[in-house]
Amino acid sequence: MTPRKIIIDTDPGQDDAVAILLALASPEDVEVLGITCVAGNVPLDLTTRNARIVCELAGKTDVKVFAGCDRPLGRALVTAEHVHGKTGLDGPDLPEPTMPLADGHAVDFIIETLRNHAPGTVTLCPLGPLTNIATALTKAPDIAGRIAKIVLMGGGYFDGGNITPVAEFNIYVDPQAADIVFKSGAPIVVMPLDVTHKALVTAARNDAFRGIGSPVGIAVAQMTEFFERFDKEKYGSEGAPLHDPCVTAYLIRPELFTGRHINVEIETTSELTMGMTVADWWGVTDRVPNATFMNEIDADGFFSLMTERLARL
Ligand code: BDR
Ligand code: CA
Repeated sequence: MTPRKIIIDTDPGQDDAVAILLALASPEDVEVLGITCVAGNVPLDLTTRNARIVCELAGKTDVKVFAGCDRPLGRALVTAEHVHGKTGLDGPDLPEPTMPLADGHAVDFIIETLRNHAPGTVTLCPLGPLTNIATALTKAPDIAGRIAKIVLMGGGYFDGGNITPVAEFNIYVDPQAADIVFKSGAPIVVMPLDVTHKALVTAARNDAFRGIGSPVGIAVAQMTEFFERFDKEKYGSEGAPLHDPCVTAYLIRPELFTGRHINVEIETTSELTMGMTVADWWGVTDRVPNATFMNEIDADGFFSLMTERLARL
């Protein structure tokens, strides 16, 4: 099978970093056309820095990395240094990147790439707030019908929220953008907290990453060790949830995940529930399904895939 062409839209973030590494390690499954950065976990100057650090760590300095939107559509930027540290990529001691950013704006790259490829052949993989994707859809509405799929990390239903009681970080940071994306008509697959909180890096899984013995394996172990403290303290969980790698793992092994095709709407007006993914899991409305919302993962299969692939880099 020819590899699926993807654009990774991201705000690295240690878990974004691992998601990118998994994709770069899997050329027979995915071809990374470009990485588009957005403000989210940390401001844009750091997400563009971190994305390039990750490419260099993987030895893939030819990947195009673009800077995108530096703030949400209609709200002030909320960041997550309390989870990811001051740089967003705290943990390993990695060199400053030397590869340059690609010329042009991330939003234009997304639009041009979708227009220059046959309809239904480019998949978008958002791992952060949806600002770049929504801006592209607004600027060029014709691209909605050309997107093969949007596979994104965001939201939650059974697990509620992680930044407010009901909102997950990526959706909360830019609810207007999420609303545009969920109403775009493009096929959407969602990896919500319900799934990602089951993808935990236990001590044994962390040992497996470290046991790879390569700079990538050791850096991944150090990254997950750094950001596990947040979830351990908050949820009493066994380790760090690998949120964003669920997106790239789905592209490689979709059978690791199960969910339902349902209607998902985004709360954009109430401050109390801002950014909530109102998921009609039980089909209690007649609203038209617009997203496949996952809720189960084969966690052992997921971590075997991660370890096997990361060992290639
Ligand atoms: C999401 O928010 C970020 O902190 C992570 O990188 C992930 O994309 C989890 O809520
Ligand atoms: Ca992210």
